[in-house]
Amino acid sequence: MLTNKHILLGITGSIAAYKSAELARLLIKKGARVTVVMTQGAKEFITPLTFATLTGKPVADQLWLNRDAASSNIAHINLTREADALIIAPCTANVAAKIAQGIADDLLTNLALARDQKRCALAIAPAMNVEMWRNRATVRNMAQLAQDGVSIFGPASGDQACGEFGDGRMLEPQDCLTLIEALMTPKVLQGQHVLITAGPTFEAIDPVRGITNRSSGKMGYALAKAAAAAGAHVTLIAGPTALANPINVHTIKVESAAQMLQACLHHAQQANVFIGVAAVADWRVSDIAPHKIKKQHAQDVPTLQFEQTADILHTIAQQEKPPYCVGFAAETENLLEFAQAKRLKKGIPLLIANHGPSTFGADENQVTLIDDTGSHALAQQPKHQLAASLIQEIAKRLPA
Ligand code: C5P
Repeated sequence: MLTNKHILLGITGSIAAYKSAELARLLIKKGARVTVVMTQGAKEFITPLTFATLTGKPVADQLWLNRDAASSNIAHINLTREADALIIAPCTANVAAKIAQGIADDLLTNLALARDQKRCALAIAPAMNVEMWRNRATVRNMAQLAQDGVSIFGPASGDQACGEFGDGRMLEPQDCLTLIEALMTPKVLQGQHVLITAGPTFEAIDPVRGITNRSSGKMGYALAKAAAAAGAHVTLIAGPTALANPINVHTIKVESAAQMLQACLHHAQQANVFIGVAAVADWRVSDIAPHKIKKQHAQDVPTLQFEQTADILHTIAQQEKPPYCVGFAAETENLLEFAQAKRLKKGIPLLIANHGPSTFGADENQVTLIDDTGSHALAQQPKHQLAASLIQEIAKRLPA
């Protein structure tokens, strides 16, 4: 979503300015062209040299200085005409107040006022003390900004640089990046409720041991982020993974297949779309030992009895008014043949087939979509990119 996009990154006078260096780096890594604009206050916390080095471009900080002899030399007009978005991160209470009132007394606030509101989105990531955030003036200004179509990222809650605790921390750079990507994403799932399962499940043998699988959760989490970016309300039901909960996604952590089923049944009624990405255990131990199974003698080997788990995807697909159901099939052989048979057996309109061993834990994946018109292969690509394509494919297939 960010490849070749031109982002104006505005930085204001907050201790959180150090996070913007990482944000600039993440944006560039995603293919964006970044021009940094700093206020006088920002330069008290971090030097322009840091950003000039990271972006490979001089920092813009002068309202009155001629920028480019060949152009009209009006920096606050030119810069925004070339930009796809103006992101102010961190944004102080003062700068937010000025933008809410239409005050333009430096380059950054001029840019906010002079941008073409249809072509250059504006988002702010507030950063301030908890009392400043709670102050009625700030509350008023934030409401005004939201009403004016400005996106407000966060803020997060926690320890503050001043030693106090509460709301007002700037979001972490990775979360800002996710929200910037969402800002640039077409809203093909606006208003839809999407329920997604991800990761492995863990089936206990005794209180300290269990059986699981190699699923990392990366594909399911990427789909959850992509669906949220496309405007959906997303509930993610995830087995044990090492991944951070995506911002703007309601994440519910579970362990076993039975817990995953319960959580899915609870949320399926509100869902228009269900995407079963989780590698759910097919069997669980039928007699989980209440205490740790002890190894008393050298030849001790426990015998485990198994029973089948419920098929979550099939259960949801069989409901009276099922959401649009999408399954994943990780196979090791006869991929397309097995996948088509699985789609019919599960009674779902769309199945996404991939090769199990080469996708589990990987950052890239190659999939084939299987629906009632046949099979459609997508190119091998990073999972986050693939997730965006799959969300578009799913949106195209939803009943009107
Ligand atoms: O039958 P198989 O496990 O290969 O099917 C894979 C698809 O079914 C995936 O979408 C997976 O999330 C889902 N599934 C499920 N409940 C199970 C087993 C698989 O929802 N118990």
